[in-house]
Amino acid sequence: MAATTKANVDQLKPNMKILEFVRFAKPYQNMPEKVCKFVQHNFRGSTVDVVRNGKGLTCPVSQIQPGDTLRKVFDIPTALSKLTHVTHGLIPELKKRGFLEFKVQLPEGAATGSKQERREESVRQANEFIQKIKAGIEMRDQATGAAENMLDKARKGKPSPDEVKASINNIMSNTTPDAMSAIASLKSSDQTYAHCVDAAAIFETSYYAIKRRKGEKAIFPDEKYAMFGAFMHDFGKAKVPKDILESTVRFERESREMKLLQSHPVFGAELLSGMGMPDYIVNMAHYHHVKMDTTLNSSYPQGVDYDDVLLETRLVSIVDVYQALVGRRSYKKSWAPPAAIRFIDALAGVEFDQGIWDDFVSVMGIYPKSSLVELTDGTIGFVISVPEEDLEKPQVVIFRDADGNDFDHPTLVDLQEEEDLEIDQDLDHNDILGEDALDIFLSLEVS
Ligand SMILES: [Fe+2]
Ligand SMILES: [Fe+2]
Repeated sequence: MAATTKANVDQLKPNMKILEFVRFAKPYQNMPEKVCKFVQHNFRGSTVDVVRNGKGLTCPVSQIQPGDTLRKVFDIPTALSKLTHVTHGLIPELKKRGFLEFKVQLPEGAATGSKQERREESVRQANEFIQKIKAGIEMRDQATGAAENMLDKARKGKPSPDEVKASINNIMSNTTPDAMSAIASLKSSDQTYAHCVDAAAIFETSYYAIKRRKGEKAIFPDEKYAMFGAFMHDFGKAKVPKDILESTVRFERESREMKLLQSHPVFGAELLSGMGMPDYIVNMAHYHHVKMDTTLNSSYPQGVDYDDVLLETRLVSIVDVYQALVGRRSYKKSWAPPAAIRFIDALAGVEFDQGIWDDFVSVMGIYPKSSLVELTDGTIGFVISVPEEDLEKPQVVIFRDADGNDFDHPTLVDLQEEEDLEIDQDLDHNDILGEDALDIFLSLEVS
């Protein structure tokens, strides 16, 4: 069987065969009638995935409508080989039309690198990732302290983002947001300060991965500023009394405490505007609890038009809930990352923007990095990669055999290369490893 892979338009080579069109430029979002007709005409007979009114839909291309956002074209009839057989002439044409990424079949004998070489590179990356997490833990503690100081200072009327910006600089030079975001589920966090750090890391990682894949420009001047923007989403909590903020009891819906807590987005917008922050930073703080169905009780402030909620803010709202679920607190059970993904998935299209949710999952995976999984042979390991090709088949670092004995040398298994092995179930770090989850993860020396 010929190998398939994902390729962006610059990676296309003559004699590849396009099996699917999987990423599109801006004109294919909320398609105007003209674009809609163009797609129907050129892909006649194909099947498409679109987002319509915030919900995903698979249908024949003939049924697409103006306003739909095109997500994927597949089952392309052989009669359209002019569009799928890659030639020197086709590549600039695809580029011009805004087709950005494809699932392609490689020409016979064109697999990239030997299996052994690919494995060695994966092992190297896995060990590097674990080292980055090690470095990230100290950075995270420092940034958590900076978040608390910033809120304390704002409480005394002296809001200043300087310490937080310095922490973000440290994170960027000593680790990666990608590694930081894997810590979220491994190490316990409080609901306010470490929450901001983890949410900022997860936001930065997912936002830029999405933007890169779509070939779109970021709204932020640079990656540090993106992380800063997400970091500040809960800044309004500076105006909520500390005892309410740090309380672990759940307040009644109509109570004074709950009303104060739910005012933090408005407080945040006031504070950030007062500090002269750009509109998009204010928007992220102001609207990160606004749900797609704005009539829900859990949507606040009330009376917001969802069209005013920026894409960046919609992503922050997803990241916010994801972090809250996977973040371990002393008083509640946390969710394993795959379980959190399934939970939010059920709310996408109602509470969260479906398209942005799909993008988030495509980059975070259905088994986000550091998820604990059991394979069909009974072995247990940590997920270490998010495959672009098939989210069910990540790379896993196996450290425990089916009888519960730990290996001396944990091994990397690439599920895309293993025909007889797959994920049987995801496991809860706490249930299986208790407080040792992080230490076990950090001690892995992959070979
Ligand atoms: Fe919030
Ligand atoms: Fe939050």
